[in-house]
Amino acid sequence: MKVITVASLKGGVGKTTLSIFLSLALRNAKKKILVVDLDHNNNLTDFFLRDEEVETIQGKSIGRVLKGNLSIDDSIFKSSLGVDVIASVPELSQIAFELLFDTAAPLRFDSMLRDLKYDFVLIDTPPAISFELSCGLHVADTVLCPVGYSRWNIQGYSILESKVERAGGNKIFIGVPSAVTDKRVETLRDGGLSLTKTVIHKSEVIATASDAGKPLKEGSPSADEFKILAKEIAKI
Ligand SMILES: Nc1ncnc2c1ncn2[C@@H]1O[C@H](COP(=O)(O)OP(=O)(O)OP(=O)(O)O)[C@@H](O)[C@H]1O
Ligand SMILES: [Mg+2]
Repeated sequence: MKVITVASLKGGVGKTTLSIFLSLALRNAKKKILVVDLDHNNNLTDFFLRDEEVETIQGKSIGRVLKGNLSIDDSIFKSSLGVDVIASVPELSQIAFELLFDTAAPLRFDSMLRDLKYDFVLIDTPPAISFELSCGLHVADTVLCPVGYSRWNIQGYSILESKVERAGGNKIFIGVPSAVTDKRVETLRDGGLSLTKTVIHKSEVIATASDAGKPLKEGSPSADEFKILAKEIAKI
């Protein structure tokens, strides 16, 4: 099993979008995938579990697992898109606050996850240093940081990179150029950031699909980008 955590200290850079479409691309490559929503804004949950009742999601959310009130097996939803999901709800922010000084919580989360049988686990995280982000970084083998168009990219990237280093365990930390143009990617590479070869270009098709809770059309340029990224990430 490989655990991939998607993280950035900047909001709105494409973390959830990357978590969604990379997980679907890996699923299309016949891999068994679990996504975990560690963001109380729960956009990842919303994408995969549109047809589930709020009460059902509430009763099986990640916060209950982290608190020790629910087994991880019982928290897993089977989504209609073939990816399994551990959901988040707004209540996670309160639970995370209560667990802030429980240093064993990320360790418990790690051992629960490692007992599961998946090829890849992808974890979406909130854009701030927090209990949720610490949990996501602690359990990660690879941390993907979407980098887009902002003059604050390098600062946010460097702070996160040092947090990943401090989390220990020889984790791989790499940026994924997201929602960018080629010209911008060159500037980022020249700035010394370690980035994937694959670029996820800015595309209305991606924004529309993620809003609609739909996968990208197979063979479309955007779907191909995620397919190539999936291959690149699987090799890391
Ligand atoms: N490659 C892309 N092309 C066009 N739009 C994109 C692309 N990637 C993301 N977006 C859009 O940008 C917005 C922010 O993306 P997303 O929600 O994935 O960011 P995020 O980093 O998860 O945000 P937050 O920090 O709030 O959780 C969304 O409306 C999404 O559809
Ligand atoms: Mg998000």
